[in-house]
Amino acid sequence: MEFFELAKNRYSERLFDQRPVEQEKIDKILEAGRLSPTAANLQPQHIYVIQSEEALEKARSIRVSHFNAPLMILVCYDADEAWSNPGDEYYDEYNSGEQDATIVAATMMYEAEELGVHSVWLRGFNSKNVAEAFDLPENMIPVMMFSMGYPDEESEPHPKLHFSRKPLEDTVTFL
Ligand SMILES: Cc1cc2nc3c(=O)[nH]c(=O)nc-3n(C[C@H](O)[C@H](O)[C@H](O)COP(=O)(O)O)c2cc1C
Repeated sequence: MEFFELAKNRYSERLFDQRPVEQEKIDKILEAGRLSPTAANLQPQHIYVIQSEEALEKARSIRVSHFNAPLMILVCYDADEAWSNPGDEYYDEYNSGEQDATIVAATMMYEAEELGVHSVWLRGFNSKNVAEAFDLPENMIPVMMFSMGYPDEESEPHPKLHFSRKPLEDTVTFL
């Protein structure tokens, strides 16, 4: 599908069919993420594919709004591997990890959509609980999770959350 159509048609999925997502599609989604740009190409992202019943149960137990999806993906970055410039006098001090993880996640989201796999971006979780549940090393910072899968036949975009977009003039300034 042409990219603009894909962007226009995508909506956050919160009503999943329980059909598992085929491994070859999961692999393609992950591969698209791997091709993302990252600061200085340092690739600090780490992706946890939550697909076993045991791992999904852990996600449910920490009150992530998982929407009963058959697949979840947790996107983190390794704070020790992300680009940073401590003490740099010319730029703001900055660690690229969150932006790196975000562009990886966005790329995976659109690849999934292209493959007919719907998703919802989730940040409604407590990072400490996520780190504990999945035994993340200290330097591994959770950024976001996806619930992913095929849409239920009753699925539709959320009537309140999906449809309204600000006009461009509210969010863009031509200088
Ligand atoms: C940073 C971010 C955090 C979000 N967190 C959640 C969340 O925790 N739970 C949820 O149901 N949706 C979450 N969403 C999805 C948004 O609510 C949704 O993208 C927005 O309402 C627009 O709707 P649409 O995706 O259907 O176009 C999040 C989206 C973003 C970008």
